[in-house]
Amino acid sequence: MDILTLKNVSKIYGELKALDNINMRVEKGEWLAIMGPSGSGKTTMMNIIGCMDKPSVGEVILNGTDVSRLSSRDLTEIRRDEIGLVFQQFHLINYLTALENVMMSQYYHSMPDEEEAMEALAAVGLSERARHLPSQLSGGEQQRVCIARALINHPALLLADEPTGNLDEKNEYMVMDIFEKLHHAGSTIIVVTHDPEVGDEAERMIVLEHGRIAREEKKQRQRPVTDTGVLSEDKLSAFA
Ligand SMILES: Nc1ncnc2c1ncn2[C@@H]1O[C@H](COP(=O)(O)OP(=O)(O)OP(=O)(O)O)[C@@H](O)[C@H]1O
Ligand SMILES: [Mg+2]
Repeated sequence: MDILTLKNVSKIYGELKALDNINMRVEKGEWLAIMGPSGSGKTTMMNIIGCMDKPSVGEVILNGTDVSRLSSRDLTEIRRDEIGLVFQQFHLINYLTALENVMMSQYYHSMPDEEEAMEALAAVGLSERARHLPSQLSGGEQQRVCIARALINHPALLLADEPTGNLDEKNEYMVMDIFEKLHHAGSTIIVVTHDPEVGDEAERMIVLEHGRIAREEKKQRQRPVTDTGVLSEDKLSAFA
């Protein structure tokens, strides 16, 4: 079953077609990578899929609902209940600590739970930094807070825009491991990346160029599910 269908989706800014007649289907539980040069429309596409923005033309069907026709209030609800977003720019709330940022996301979804929020931060290696403000965190640390925040409500659909862009190799593996386990637990994952190694983790890759799908590749996944101990099965229950 498809969790997502884009039908003839375009996003037009004046003369520029940031997305130019995109048709795409994503199956429930699939892990998809979106790649392509800077300016090719990746973030624009993620914003539309993530109900942050509407297409100029076309339909976006998420779980059977055409979200391109919904009010912004309904979109907020869908975003809150179904989707986990990891932004290219982190959008953390700057006067809240790492822990509070994660708990804020719980609050909007259901109920804040400090213990669970701490577990999510521990899973991304940030136990020691939980009480710091974003301005006191490095770029990679902020990115990991953003990931913990996206995962805390067990989203059916995880959208991640360059989730490892600011991370060193160790933290990149940590994040890929978390994605691997979420995938295993049934989440659908769409990840935008410039990093071929991150792209290789996906089951399918779509390459955008000038707002169009230039090519598409099904992949044999390389890496078996590993257990680095970072996210143990009991910690995973905090996510999936
Ligand atoms: N609000 C906007 N108004 C006008 N043009 C925009 C707007 N947002 C994006 N664009 C343009 O649309 C195109 C696609 O932008 P987008 O951010 O989707 O690229 P991207 O593939 O995510 O690039 P990057 O890899 O650098 O993040 C770019 O040419 C960009 O300048
Ligand atoms: Mg982008």
